[in-house]
Amino acid sequence: MTDLTCNIIGAGKLGKSLGILLARQLAVRGVVNRTLLSAQRACDEMGTGAPVATMAELPAADIFLLATEDNQLEQACYELAAKGPLRPGDVVFHCSGSMTSAVLSAARQKGAYTATLHPLRSFASPQKSVRYFAGTYCAVEGDAQALELLCPLFEALNAQIVTIHAETKTLYHMASVLASNYVVALSAAAVEGFTRAGLDQETAKAISNNLMAGTVANLQGLSHKEALTGPIERGDLMVLKAHLQALEEIPHTKEIYKTLGKQAQRLTSHTKNIDESMAQLWEENA
Ligand SMILES: NC(=O)c1ccc[n+]([C@@H]2O[C@H](COP(=O)([O-])OP(=O)(O)OC[C@H]3O[C@@H](n4cnc5c(N)ncnc54)[C@H](OP(=O)(O)O)[C@@H]3O)[C@@H](O)[C@H]2O)c1
Repeated sequence: MTDLTCNIIGAGKLGKSLGILLARQLAVRGVVNRTLLSAQRACDEMGTGAPVATMAELPAADIFLLATEDNQLEQACYELAAKGPLRPGDVVFHCSGSMTSAVLSAARQKGAYTATLHPLRSFASPQKSVRYFAGTYCAVEGDAQALELLCPLFEALNAQIVTIHAETKTLYHMASVLASNYVVALSAAAVEGFTRAGLDQETAKAISNNLMAGTVANLQGLSHKEALTGPIERGDLMVLKAHLQALEEIPHTKEIYKTLGKQAQRLTSHTKNIDESMAQLWEENA
């Protein structure tokens, strides 16, 4: 436990989760949401913090966590700088994966240090998220003075800190969408294929989950090249042709199949002949 203090502006799914976690390391003081009732409920759920109705009523604190929706961050920070108890040297941070600390410029102009800390985890239910937080990667960028304060706090909560650059944050966020959201989309496409093949929905989802979990387990110890199996890895053009034929009835999945097929092919080392025939297959079925 440190002697630091923190205010939370936007105690929703993520704000409440981090509020519960941070309360192990510091004193959570004021909590402000859009409405006082919502802030009150958030404090009840977190078991910490005092709800207030406006930024002007927030107490002084060393750290300000801004956890509103992304499109509210800049305005909320502006309001904090204009009406809140912000002092030079305080730390203001947000947790958006897509936005940088540039949206906190209003706080910076008041002499605060700003940063972003993006936890690569889905926070749907605060109690559950808190239980599984240990080991979560948190990508940080921003002022060194802010990170010197924030990183040890999150490391003490067993977060794994990685540093990113503001200029490449959009690329970084795109990659995290691929690794998370697109896996969900891919699962939906696989389940549709299984059900069209006659399996019931529940079995289809269970099979898809099993395959995906096994593949991710393989990826833990193997390179991408080593983890790739199946017709593309084997260079089995007959099977690929049959798949593309079967996909005539699911055009939206055919697009996914071809796009990811090309990516999978990049991981293989076939003869020039097989490589060219495979490339032609993707084009023929374009
Ligand atoms: N949820 C996740 O899985 C996750 C993961 C990583 C990063 N993040 C990031 O975390 C941030 C919050 O996301 P979330 O999913 O927690 O959103 P959320 O559940 O919708 O919560 C947003 C909270 O912000 C409050 N709020 C909105 N505008 C405000 C304002 N002007 N002043 C004060 N409070 C305001 C809302 O208050 P009311 O309750 O009164 O409406 C609500 O409690 C975003 O930057 C997001 O990108 C989220």
